[in-house]
Amino acid sequence: MKGVLLHGGHGTRLRPLTHTGPKQLIKVAGKPVSQWCLEDLRNSGVRDVAIILGDIAPLRVVEYYGDGGWLGLNITYIYQGYPHGLAHAVYCAREFVEDEPFVVYLGDNIIFEGIKRFVEKFEDSDAAAQILLAKVPNPQRFGVAKFDKEGRLIGLVEKPKVPPSPYALVGVYFFRPPYIFKAVESIKPSWRKELEITDAIQRLIDWGLRVDYDFITGWWKDTGTPEDILEANRILLDGRISKVIKGRVSENAVIEGRVYIDEGAVIKDDVVVRGPTYIGKNTVIDSETYIGPYTSVGDNCYIRNVELEDSVVMDNVTIKDVNARIVSSIIGAHAVIERKKAYPSGIKFVIGERAKVFI
Ligand code: TTP
Repeated sequence: MKGVLLHGGHGTRLRPLTHTGPKQLIKVAGKPVSQWCLEDLRNSGVRDVAIILGDIAPLRVVEYYGDGGWLGLNITYIYQGYPHGLAHAVYCAREFVEDEPFVVYLGDNIIFEGIKRFVEKFEDSDAAAQILLAKVPNPQRFGVAKFDKEGRLIGLVEKPKVPPSPYALVGVYFFRPPYIFKAVESIKPSWRKELEITDAIQRLIDWGLRVDYDFITGWWKDTGTPEDILEANRILLDGRISKVIKGRVSENAVIEGRVYIDEGAVIKDDVVVRGPTYIGKNTVIDSETYIGPYTSVGDNCYIRNVELEDSVVMDNVTIKDVNARIVSSIIGAHAVIERKKAYPSGIKFVIGERAKVFI
């Protein structure tokens, strides 16, 4: 089976973080969200993957993943550009998949249990499509499945005001060509001017083709908002991080619990790091610092005299002498947060569009 990873979109709900790069490259628990997806594909036996690129810094994706060899994958890149919708993104992959069944993975989705058993199930079937559903408390936010009295799937409704069931569509879909491509050719853009994948799958159902479904029982997250990113970070640190110390830890530093300290990182005197926590490559954690549970710090950061908890700090960040506790925050790459004596005194900002500061 081939894989198609969607890496486009504008990620408007995650601005300003998505002004300079795709949201799927935001690192949680030490890896970009889309790397967790690619590793799940690989662990499920998929080797050939096409990454669909959008128009926000697509070359950063190519630079990061390269030919995929380092992940045990063979990666091809396809440029979608402007986000015309999930069905459009899938349609971009038609030459890549040829006549093989394929799995589409939204690059901002995290499925804790992984998709291996669903890949195997689809390989053994001859269905035109297979979708995954999860029971959610707020189906209004998602594509929702509709069943008849006998429990047969009869439709999919995008963000319904009155949900026909509590089952939301998870961001992993399985298709057999050529049906899905014919379906995409037959649909029109929705009110939000996107070619909707729900409309294309609805076509398959209406044409009487076999569309299977299955349920995800474990944790699933669509990381579309800052709160989602922090939650995904907590869950992955909790479930995927063990105590590993590759960097250098001073004798007078305290490391408690499952803390992953990557290569080249330095933890100096007078520091407490409490897991589950991830400290990236070549990052320096200097004195008078507490890094609390559920924090991921990126590569090449410098951190001193601050308390940091339940937060995601991206690469190349400096946080210095803040002498306060930063909680539940996402700090973008190359950001500088520093308490500095200068006159006139007061709080000074140079903040990107749509930034949020709570003091
Ligand atoms: P969304 O979360 O709907 O993506 P978005 O980037 O438009 O987000 P926002 O609503 O905040 O603006 O899309 C789901 C996933 O699919 C996400 O990983 C981005 C990707 N995608 C594409 O690759 N191409 C597209 O045309 C669209 C709409 C999304």
